[in-house]
Amino acid sequence: MEIVSTGPVQTAGLGARLAEAAEPGDVLCLWGVLGAGKTVFAKGFGSGLGATETINSPTFILMAEYPARLPLFHLDLYRLEGPADAVEGGLLDERQAAGVVLVEWPDRLGEALPGNRLDVVIDGSGDEPRHIRLTAHGKGHERYLGLAAEPA
Ligand SMILES: Nc1ncnc2c1ncn2[C@@H]1O[C@H](COP(=O)(O)OP(=O)(O)O)[C@@H](O)[C@H]1O
Ligand SMILES: [Mg+2]
Repeated sequence: MEIVSTGPVQTAGLGARLAEAAEPGDVLCLWGVLGAGKTVFAKGFGSGLGATETINSPTFILMAEYPARLPLFHLDLYRLEGPADAVEGGLLDERQAAGVVLVEWPDRLGEALPGNRLDVVIDGSGDEPRHIRLTAHGKGHERYLGLAAEPA
């Protein structure tokens, strides 16, 4: 499933639509270079999930939790050295089973990358249109795929 986004509003809108499908234990991994639009997507997802606080990316905070229809855990692992840090630091923690997890820089998880997840791969940066590809891995996350298309 691939969509083309020509601006941040569209990318955030995709996030908001996908949030309707969110169920406890879901993990969405956001792939893409710096400036691709991962945080833009996360902000849209948060508002679609009913978070009242705006999602942001404070420097040096690896995980933030936002109350919403389901608790939303936003991980930005840019500064993480490696998967051992994530596990030892309690970033992948049991509470997340009751909520939804969004992960920026999921490559940092290495072997600890969850098998059941939705990959959101954002291609492009700067002024370029973004090609956003959704792939469900393992169990459960196929339910997101039908929501990607913009409603007519
Ligand atoms: N189609 C698009 N989708 C998302 N962001 C876009 C798009 N076009 C331009 N942008 C801009 O690109 C930047 C993406 O920033 P951000 O979401 O913080 O990136 P990341 O979290 O991937 O590093 C924002 O300044 C946003 O306005
Ligand atoms: Mg970001």
